[in-house]
Amino acid sequence: IALHEVRNPLSALQGYLQLLKKELDEVRQLEYVEIMLGALDRVNTLITNYLRLAKPGTPERRPCDMDELVSDLISLYEVELKNRGISFLFSCDSGLPQVSLDRDQFYQVMVNILKNAVEVTSQNGEIHVGVKYLKEKEMAVFFVRDTGPGVSEDILTRIFDPFFTTRDKGTGLGLYVCREMVKNHGGGLSVANNPDQGCTVTITIPCESRGRSL
Ligand SMILES: Nc1ncnc2c1ncn2[C@@H]1O[C@H](COP(=O)(O)OP(=O)(O)OP(=O)(O)O)[C@@H](O)[C@H]1O
Ligand SMILES: [Mg+2]
Repeated sequence: IALHEVRNPLSALQGYLQLLKKELDEVRQLEYVEIMLGALDRVNTLITNYLRLAKPGTPERRPCDMDELVSDLISLYEVELKNRGISFLFSCDSGLPQVSLDRDQFYQVMVNILKNAVEVTSQNGEIHVGVKYLKEKEMAVFFVRDTGPGVSEDILTRIFDPFFTTRDKGTGLGLYVCREMVKNHGGGLSVANNPDQGCTVTITIPCESRGRSL
């Protein structure tokens, strides 16, 4: 099944419930409609994640400037991080060549990883997002380093399992889908605890010249 086949009837339900909500003035009935709308919202998220899990899609790769992609990401999250009292650090190696990426997929990967970092970072914490270039290996590295609690050794091997989550509202699909997408790019994704505090998620992607032959 395709995403739109499920989404269309869901949005019809949502639309008509919203209309109904406008026409109702009995408090209890309104409350019921609110609950239905909330449940629909949840179903929507779950379905999106499940379908993405079933079919991450073949990447449509084009040469991209990774620093540009990261700048976009940062401009989107800068304000939220500031509001949460989290310092944001960005670093980028010079001389990074273009990397052959599916822009949408890779962006989604970066968002997922940054969101995880934001979820575990408390006020006065710091998130460092960076891009490095390993010239001798012709690899681009994208990393997100946080000052959260890190990942305890006993779950470190399980965090990539589909549906593994330690969060109340988590689907546990974030890292799994990210890893699949990165693998489809011929790259790798790993998580390691920092020596001091928090952890670092690292993605390595072969650069343009090597990426093409994959
Ligand atoms: N930066 C991080 N620091 C500490 N633990 C993390 C971090 N990122 C992920 N984890 C752990 O890995 C688990 C799985 O992460 P994943 O992104 O796959 O799912 P989730 O964040 O729980 O749910 P979802 O991404 O669907 O909202 C998390 O529940 C958390 O326990
Ligand atoms: Mg997540």
